[in-house]
Amino acid sequence: MFVTKKLFSVFIILTCFLIAPSQSQYRNCYYFKWTINFYDGVQDSPIDVHVKSKDDDLGHHTITYDHGWPFGFCEQFFERTLFWGHFTLGSQFVSFNVFDKEIAKIIGRNISANNMVHWLLKQDGYYLSPEFKPYDDPAWMFRGHWQ
Ligand SMILES: *[C@@H]1O[C@H](CO)[C@@H](O)[C@H](O)[C@H]1NC(C)=O
Repeated sequence: MFVTKKLFSVFIILTCFLIAPSQSQYRNCYYFKWTINFYDGVQDSPIDVHVKSKDDDLGHHTITYDHGWPFGFCEQFFERTLFWGHFTLGSQFVSFNVFDKEIAKIIGRNISANNMVHWLLKQDGYYLSPEFKPYDDPAWMFRGHWQ
């Protein structure tokens, strides 16, 4: 009887893992929880943001100087989570990974926190920060130019 109960518990725990939320759903996570934020650092110039992963297309979102856009997800086991973004500012565009294991390493993972990634798009390119900073703060890390 004891063994049966134990097996049943194992079964329940395994079932919980199997029905774990998909990575784009934003609730409590079995692994690391992340929020990716996008900011437009160019006044009077809206930027189109289009984020995708292997399984999800998050659609087009317009960000402006005053209104960014955040999205949250649960990271998958084995560092397999990858989101990339395509950005358009007037006639300029750029694509880059907005979340991958390299970015997670730069930001640092905390199992008991909602881990934040901040992307700032400016006239000369895109910048990364683990914390939100004013758009002109030198702590933003330059990551690349518009194409
Ligand atoms: C992780 O997050 C928790 C909750 O926000 C916080 O109390 C703790 O200091 C963080 N740990 C590290 C190492 O930053």
